[in-house]
Amino acid sequence: MSVLFKPVTVGRLHLKNRFVRSATNDYLGRPDRTISEQQMELYQDLAAGGVGVIVTGHAYVQHPLGRASVNQNAIYNDRFVEGYRRLADAVHIKGAALVLQISHAGRQTPLDWPSDQVPVAPSAVREGTTGRTPRALTEAEIWSLIDAYVAAMVRAKAAGCDEVQLHIAHGYLLSAFLSPYTNRRTDAWGGSLENRCRILREILTRGRRLVGESYPVLVKINSTDGFAGEGYLTLADVVAAARGLVEWGVSAIEVSGGHREAKGVMSRLKGLQVEQEAYVADAARAVKAAVNVPVILVGGLRSLSVMEDVVASGVTDLVALSRPLSANRNWSTAFVRGR
Ligand SMILES: Cc1cc2nc3c(=O)[nH]c(=O)nc-3n(C[C@H](O)[C@H](O)[C@H](O)COP(=O)(O)O)c2cc1C
Repeated sequence: MSVLFKPVTVGRLHLKNRFVRSATNDYLGRPDRTISEQQMELYQDLAAGGVGVIVTGHAYVQHPLGRASVNQNAIYNDRFVEGYRRLADAVHIKGAALVLQISHAGRQTPLDWPSDQVPVAPSAVREGTTGRTPRALTEAEIWSLIDAYVAAMVRAKAAGCDEVQLHIAHGYLLSAFLSPYTNRRTDAWGGSLENRCRILREILTRGRRLVGESYPVLVKINSTDGFAGEGYLTLADVVAAARGLVEWGVSAIEVSGGHREAKGVMSRLKGLQVEQEAYVADAARAVKAAVNVPVILVGGLRSLSVMEDVVASGVTDLVALSRPLSANRNWSTAFVRGR
């Protein structure tokens, strides 16, 4: 049997194989931000396709400034719990686990949103794709954000989702706190790595108290901003941050990379040759060497041989895919059948 079909444990959750559908915003949410029937169908198909875990598209924790796109789902209010409960039930019937990914757009809100407010971020660093400069969050606003994340973690559990995942990647708010490029604060929330991680520590330790010791709390973390040069996030910082995350109760770490401004880093474009697959593998290997929780590798995984190799050689414990499963919901079933 392929190593990819060997069961694995994340926290206290037993997973039937090593395949993760990485968080993917499908832009199919209802206008009121609840789960649509199209999404119910999509997730049931993904689960029936054989993938062990499905991470939802990122649901935003604070309205209106946390919203990253049109037709995005949200989790800033108890009224969103029911939709995720239906989704979790449907996915469970088909034999997969459901992870709710939670986020805040930060400086990466769309240009037309919100129409009457300036986006918020750790610091006022202009965002290149929209040309907008966000304003720096006040201390009181940071505490209110921490509360919003913690409330979202509690809602994930209340909805029956098997795990919750903090989105600390791709330039959204929490990754913007982690990176010295976007976090230029001189107070307790910026500067040293310890300060840049403070918001993560507060969310995780407070959230953990409310969801309990055994509820799996995952993170998806940036390994790079996606730019070369001084002043950006380093892998050494990421590895040190990963150790802290585990200390604060994280059950598994998914490793990704890239801000929206760094085009083609998060999702490398077409035509990947086999040797160009697994383009975040070096960072995942470094994180895995530093932590004692499962690591999940995402980014450009396409060939069975590459996926088997990264698991068998200890680069990662699980493999996550986004675009292949958007192109073919039954993709992993094809693998089971040896195709
Ligand atoms: C349309 C689209 C939507 C995405 N939405 C999310 C998201 O909501 N949360 C997230 O962490 N990553 C998101 N990603 C990034 C993917 O999860 C993944 O990290 C990236 O595409 C690389 O993996 P792949 O080569 O398997 O596509 C998205 C990617 C695409 C293409």
